[in-house]
Amino acid sequence: MNAENSQNFELFTKSWKAYQAIIEHDYLWHSMAATALNQWLSEQFGTDILFSFVDLACGDSSTTAGVLQNFRNVNYTGVDSSSQALNEASRNTSQITHQTLVESDYLDFLATGEEKYDVIYIGLAAHHLGLENLDQFFNLIRNRLNPGGAFIAYETFLLPDETLDEHKKRLSLIIRYFWSAMSLAYRQTVVEHVAMNDRPVLIADWNEKVTNAGLTLTQVLMKSPDRLCSMVISASK
Ligand SMILES: C[S@@+](CC[C@H](N)C(=O)[O-])C[C@H]1O[C@@H](n2cnc3c(N)ncnc32)[C@H](O)[C@@H]1O
Repeated sequence: MNAENSQNFELFTKSWKAYQAIIEHDYLWHSMAATALNQWLSEQFGTDILFSFVDLACGDSSTTAGVLQNFRNVNYTGVDSSSQALNEASRNTSQITHQTLVESDYLDFLATGEEKYDVIYIGLAAHHLGLENLDQFFNLIRNRLNPGGAFIAYETFLLPDETLDEHKKRLSLIIRYFWSAMSLAYRQTVVEHVAMNDRPVLIADWNEKVTNAGLTLTQVLMKSPDRLCSMVISASK
């Protein structure tokens, strides 16, 4: 491993351990997201119907794999740019009969392939794109959905009266004061990540761009009790 790779690996390991701690304590409400996703998929497909499901920026796939193992005929594709994340994902998705893991930037994956899917899901990664990149993202999604296919996102959003700065302050306070079972060092890692990378948008702006791309109006499937995260869904027409 050269010096740069070793630095990247260390950075990944530090952030990844902090992220694992978030999941372990359910601080970003992954269990509620899983319940909402499971309910929607059950209503849509039952447990026997064949459908394809792409998980963009899948990470370790733990949340989606936990849900999808209930659906015996799902064809799962997990996409992530990190090989370390995909190593974990390969363990967590082993119960899914038809599964593929792809190491790629998710925008490149959407732009370069032609296969279409019944469900495209993204969890806690699209809020890094910022408003100006959503048009491109949603156009790519529309091109890769089957007719009637669903685009589901579990993301942080701004509250209707909240600026980005206010959002980051609110989230940082939640992390510092309420995520108290996590070590101070991990909390600090997450606060720094939020300050550097988070660019959530208003659901109203997301909705405008999603409909401009030709998808249906966004429906909110769940909101976390702290109003940080929502699961939203739009369909291909
Ligand atoms: C916060 S985790 C989210 C994991 C999972 N989706 C979840 O909901 O818990 C972010 C993941 O996105 C991946 N990621 C970030 N940007 C990416 C990109 N442009 N293309 C592919 N993967 C990306 C990271 O490697 C990491 O595994």
